[in-house]
Amino acid sequence: MAHAPDNANVTRRDFLLVASQTAAAVGGVIVLWPFIDQMNPAADMLALREVEFDLSAVQPGQIVTTEWQKKPVFIRRRTPEEIKAAEDTQLSDLKDPQADKDRVQRPEWLILVATCTHLGCIPSNLFKGDYGGWLCPCHGSHYDTSGRIRKGPAPRNLAVPPYQFVSDTKVVIGAEPKASASAPAEKG
Ligand code: FES
Repeated sequence: MAHAPDNANVTRRDFLLVASQTAAAVGGVIVLWPFIDQMNPAADMLALREVEFDLSAVQPGQIVTTEWQKKPVFIRRRTPEEIKAAEDTQLSDLKDPQADKDRVQRPEWLILVATCTHLGCIPSNLFKGDYGGWLCPCHGSHYDTSGRIRKGPAPRNLAVPPYQFVSDTKVVIGAEPKASASAPAEKG
């Protein structure tokens, strides 16, 4: 004799089916998330690639240190005297000859990777060395007001990172410079 469907059993069976499908779907999301997450560029990686810095609080003669791609970066607002010293230096006096105009986009702002090219110490902001720039205390490398090596064992100038001025008071370190940025935009 056929039995009528037991409503209570059907409801329970449906509930178990729905519950198991939901659990599987949730499990799928949980399992998939790490893979989806790995496929997207992480926000912190984007932040590492480009760092915006507000220049408005930096006074003439002041050097601040920020970070880009986990490396220290010097931002120096040069005085007119420091600019002149850098521009007047003869290339023949340099171990790693490079004109100051090729190391800055705006003469007032010198932006450098703060890693000594000898063995990677961070040059001191407190001791400017014999050429008014930086002294690396590890083995006595002296850099000038363009970050060029002038004395000591370091073989090369402090590196200039890519950067772009996005306004008069903001610079984005890590951004490729605009084509026109190589021309000095401001004096003093
Ligand atoms: S690491 Fe700077 S002088 Fe050696």
